[in-house]
Amino acid sequence: MISFRDWMEEKVKEYYKADFRRDFFTAPELDRAFGYALAYHIAQFIRDFPKPIIFELGGGSGALAFDILTYLREKEEKLFEKTKYYIYDFSPKLISLQRERLKDFEGKVYWAEDLFPMEGVVFSNEFFDCLPVHVIKGGKELFIDRGEELWLDISKEELRRVIKRMGYETLSQVIEISLEGIAFLEKIGKNLLKGFHIAIDYGYTTKEMVKFPEGTLVGYKNHRLYQRPSEGMDITAHVNFSILEEYGRDFGLERVAFLNLKDFLLQSLPFLEELESLSLSDSPEDIERLSRLKTLLISMGYRFKVLIQKKLQSS
Ligand SMILES: C[S@@+](CC[C@H](N)C(=O)[O-])C[C@H]1O[C@@H](n2cnc3c(N)ncnc32)[C@H](O)[C@@H]1O
Repeated sequence: MISFRDWMEEKVKEYYKADFRRDFFTAPELDRAFGYALAYHIAQFIRDFPKPIIFELGGGSGALAFDILTYLREKEEKLFEKTKYYIYDFSPKLISLQRERLKDFEGKVYWAEDLFPMEGVVFSNEFFDCLPVHVIKGGKELFIDRGEELWLDISKEELRRVIKRMGYETLSQVIEISLEGIAFLEKIGKNLLKGFHIAIDYGYTTKEMVKFPEGTLVGYKNHRLYQRPSEGMDITAHVNFSILEEYGRDFGLERVAFLNLKDFLLQSLPFLEELESLSLSDSPEDIERLSRLKTLLISMGYRFKVLIQKKLQSS
């Protein structure tokens, strides 16, 4: 018998360490305009840093790094020159894909086995949703025994503390809690000496939890979504941004913004420029790209959230 959390950790590792499959599209794989918009915001944050580092958690196919670096090389030459880009990922297969994709940026991109003390930006897109979660309902925790679900006493004192601190003790709905998410945030807070943390993901806040009485765990396979995740699927849970915000403060990370992906994109010049030029074009390729931008803005734009935290410098 294992806790759902341990089962999920095992399955997510197996999934990402196997051959790369496109069971779902992430925003950077849809269109480069996503990476350009993110690069635009990152540039505003770190332009004045003497030697900034951009640190990406979970690099996927390398598409996002490619678009961010391409944008900086073309539009922010000075910043590009002084910046180093790091990727952290646990999948050897994906790391080799990233190396291949980023050949053009040799000497600019590095791979790190862990965070290290740095100034700049730590960011992720769809990283926190891969981290294993404990599943709780009515004071019990979900375990799996030979494929069967069992609800037993909560396994860890730390979980009880999170539930209490977040005010979830009286909730009867399914709640997912990622202690790994909190641990990652702590690492980010400790290593980010100066700068920003940006987390982009499917997610919700405490206020919005009522929308998900059965929780938010899902599996993806062949572009289909399954409410009951099982073997061979990409298993994810929406990110609880209230927990990231609350615990971030313990580690010196203060919220500076929390917004929908739609607004984040529309507040960036390159995205607006792309939108305008594609809207005025008649070429079939541009019309197709325009429809992908609409997907980013509408289907993903409301579901995805962007949390931006600033590291407060200790005096
Ligand atoms: C859903 S993909 C997102 C990839 C990319 N950010 C994108 O937007 O296309 C998740 C990525 O995070 C990595 N990942 C997931 N869990 C991880 C963990 N615990 N440690 C390190 N990398 C992890 C996976 O290998 C994969 O590259």
